[in-house]
Amino acid sequence: MKKIVILISGRGSNMQALLETNLSCHVAAVISNRADAAGLQIARQRGIATAVVAHRDYADREAFDAALAQAIDAYQPDIIVLAGFMRILTTGFVNKYSGRLINIHPSLLPAYGGMNTHERALQDGVKIHGCTVHFVTPDLDHGPIIIQAAVQVLSDDTPHTLAQRVLHEEHRIYPQAIRWLCRGQVSLSAEGKVISDRLEQPGSPLIAPGLE
Ligand code: GRF
Repeated sequence: MKKIVILISGRGSNMQALLETNLSCHVAAVISNRADAAGLQIARQRGIATAVVAHRDYADREAFDAALAQAIDAYQPDIIVLAGFMRILTTGFVNKYSGRLINIHPSLLPAYGGMNTHERALQDGVKIHGCTVHFVTPDLDHGPIIIQAAVQVLSDDTPHTLAQRVLHEEHRIYPQAIRWLCRGQVSLSAEGKVISDRLEQPGSPLIAPGLE
């Protein structure tokens, strides 16, 4: 059975969604760059090993990433799952775990990489927004896409209500993506393309607002 390590920085709701479902893998540890990350407590309550590598203890990104890699490698994971991990990782770190480092981002990439995705989507007046699970590459928020979920943007949405609806979908697609990876049903080719044996389902377009 494959082993995963989950990296968090905060509340850990995506981590919790991963822990609450059968992923077909062993969650070896949850690691945070912040000792006060609420998600650490959730992991401990479930008997999962936790570790903290505090970014403030390191002079620069290289030193922090080296310490983080050491903490991760102690568990010898097959897959490293970023779940609200709020540090930009160095190219060296990302390349070391190429094809094994996965992230979830609260937008339909490649639109709205970076921060404040829901505010920016509302400002632009887009009708469809969502979330993306992708392989991490040195190009921030632009790695090969594994799965996306789309939601309608409603006329009375606030960043908070839109974030809640997107988060609900994050909690559905992240466990699905990690399960595929753990079962070897999805992988990254040497050319950087996602290889998947998943059946595509043509039809069921999301049109927002709906047609008459
Ligand atoms: C999520 O919206 C995720 O997409 C983004 O950071 C947020 C983390 O939330 N990368 P949580 O800690 O999983 O609740």
